[in-house]
Amino acid sequence: MTATAVSPEHPLSRIADPELHVSGDPHALWRWMREFSPVHRHEAGELPAFWSLTKYEDIRSVYRDPGDFSSARGVLLRPARLGDDPGGGLTLALSDPPRHKELRSLMADWFSTRAVRMLEDSIRTAARTAVARALDEGGCDFVHLAGRFSHSVICGIIGIPERDHEDVYRWCEEAFSAHTSLAAHPQLMEYFMELLYDRMAEPADDLVSALVNGTVHGELLSEHEALLNCENIIGATENGRLALIGGMLAFLQHPDQWHRLRRDRALLPDAVEEIVRWTSSATHSMRTATRPRVIRGERIEAGDRVVLWLPSANRDEDIFEDPYRFDIARRPNRHIALASGEHFCIGSTLARAEMRALFTALLDSTGVIEQAGPVTRVRSNAVNGPAALPVRLTPRTTPGDGGFS
Ligand code: HEM
Repeated sequence: MTATAVSPEHPLSRIADPELHVSGDPHALWRWMREFSPVHRHEAGELPAFWSLTKYEDIRSVYRDPGDFSSARGVLLRPARLGDDPGGGLTLALSDPPRHKELRSLMADWFSTRAVRMLEDSIRTAARTAVARALDEGGCDFVHLAGRFSHSVICGIIGIPERDHEDVYRWCEEAFSAHTSLAAHPQLMEYFMELLYDRMAEPADDLVSALVNGTVHGELLSEHEALLNCENIIGATENGRLALIGGMLAFLQHPDQWHRLRRDRALLPDAVEEIVRWTSSATHSMRTATRPRVIRGERIEAGDRVVLWLPSANRDEDIFEDPYRFDIARRPNRHIALASGEHFCIGSTLARAEMRALFTALLDSTGVIEQAGPVTRVRSNAVNGPAALPVRLTPRTTPGDGGFS
């Protein structure tokens, strides 16, 4: 099968249009592309020219080949007029081996299974507190419940004092809702800069101290690099919170699966994997080819941009049985929502622990959970999930009750 180039007016080019992800059906387009044009060239328009990959195996192979597919010029589509990502080569997500490996080992201890295990009690407490507050108020926008909860966890790891969590949350919200990078938010960057200086003067047991005092190739990171890496970490957590919110929405839309989990809590780890697959909250990763490569008969030249559509990979009919069914007991479930290879999500263990904690807190203490208003979706081609999810919550009164209406 060969793919043909299409002009930007062709509907397939809409795959990168944020409007499609707010109000359209990107899955219908991805499904078509998987079948008829799995390696598809989009010509330059407002965005630079790029290739779309939609099949699981192709996407996985590109992730696992950082030599031929580099992250250093950016991992997200940006308007052509902005050029390559200015963080290229400087942050964890935007660097290639061997530098990537050294940077990653600076941060890895903070996200290891051991580190997350040590945090698990405080994560559970934060989840119970968030749910109790929503219950007191009779409901909430789940976007903020999940947002504040996951934000408090990452702030603790970074080393942001509790008194500043709310300010930092507000600044991040402002940047996320304006769809600008966190680096474009002056107060947030100023705050991080001060935190970096504090930890240079007096290191503490936190990630910021590891960044300002750690070395790559025997040299300390520059202030600029440390700052961008803080921003990268906090920005990347948006995927985690969107997965939590998208998970809640999935249960509201599939109440039988919530009842199933309530009846059998042993299903929780499988349910978490299914939520991660189902939501695939990171919509795409981009790579730049470093030498010519042929994929399914299409020749990709050095310098070409290649976009990997993760929700499409995770609905690939060749890999997943009945991929459009939300099944909390799905096995096997070899999704690649968290990427694969060198850049495999460093926050994956943390994200899973947060999901287990939040859904456990909801199962333990809520009776009925109802949608209380319209759901809107995030306007982005980089991340996806609900932008608003109003819910009404009632407390659990007897061990038998609880569900969705
Ligand atoms: C279910 C939730 C999450 C999903 C779906 C997700 C998805 C991903 C994906 C697809 C990548 C690869 C990006 C690329 O190479 O182009 C990635 C990398 C990364 N993620 Fe996550 N993520 C999640 C949660 C988190 C959390 C909670 C954190 C908090 C620390 C985090 C931090 C990062 C970082 C720093 C990287 C870069 C790793 C590297 O390049 O070595 N993620 N994530």
